Amino acid sequence: MTWAVVPAAGRGRRFGGEVPKQYLPILGRTVLHHALERLALHPRVRGLVVVLAADDARWPGWRELHGKPVLACTGGEERADSVLAGLRALPDTVRERDWVLVHDAARPCLRHDDLDRLLDHGMAHGVGAILAAPVRDTLKRARANGEIAGSEPRDGLWRAFTPQLFRRATLTRALESALLAAAAITDEAMAIERLGLRPMLVEGAEDNLKITTPGDLALAEYVLARLGRPG
Ligand code: CTP
Ligand code: MG
Repeated sequence: MTWAVVPAAGRGRRFGGEVPKQYLPILGRTVLHHALERLALHPRVRGLVVVLAADDARWPGWRELHGKPVLACTGGEERADSVLAGLRALPDTVRERDWVLVHDAARPCLRHDDLDRLLDHGMAHGVGAILAAPVRDTLKRARANGEIAGSEPRDGLWRAFTPQLFRRATLTRALESALLAAAAITDEAMAIERLGLRPMLVEGAEDNLKITTPGDLALAEYVLARLGRPG
């Protein structure tokens, strides 16, 4: 049984609008509600820590979801600050070597079979693992004026998703070290890589999309309508 930390303290600048994207509705529930619920309904998830912006007035104050405890804490300026706050808010029953999942509030379409494979492969590997998918499109480097400067080989390149699975103490140490060094990190694996550790890539469904711009909301609605409730 694994706890999950769900960073939901972002402002959604690329999405725009007054309401942060994690609080926009899809099929009658907020994006955050979908993300938390799909985790809570998984039999191997023990509990949830949701990380909120300091001025968040929209959090419904849930203390549990589908029988799983839900704890809330306050995040920080960067995603790494928020995830670190979430790790510190985990209960003491989560020990240093225990595994912890980190999952974006903005990814409401997680499939249970992907989460199962992530847990199996990450724990078997020892360092941890992330869901990801190989890059399929041809990659172009752009000039400032929008012309193509050249093409980049895509061999061996993957797109990093969440959830990402690491041991509590290792991830805490990795994020503290990255923040201390002011290293720009955009996911948890980058912080782990900085320590010289090499987590596994576990291929997951590409429809585990992160809502980033308004067009993604309609896509996520389509995916969720087809997936139905997990379990
Ligand atoms: N996040 C967070 N704390 C931050 C920044 C981001 O908890 N300081 C969370 C977001 O709420 C989101 C996840 O991390 O669930 C992934 O981040 P992203 O998609 O970049 O969301 P935002 O940072 O909100 O969006 P943007 O970068 O467009 O401002
Ligand atoms: Mg962001």
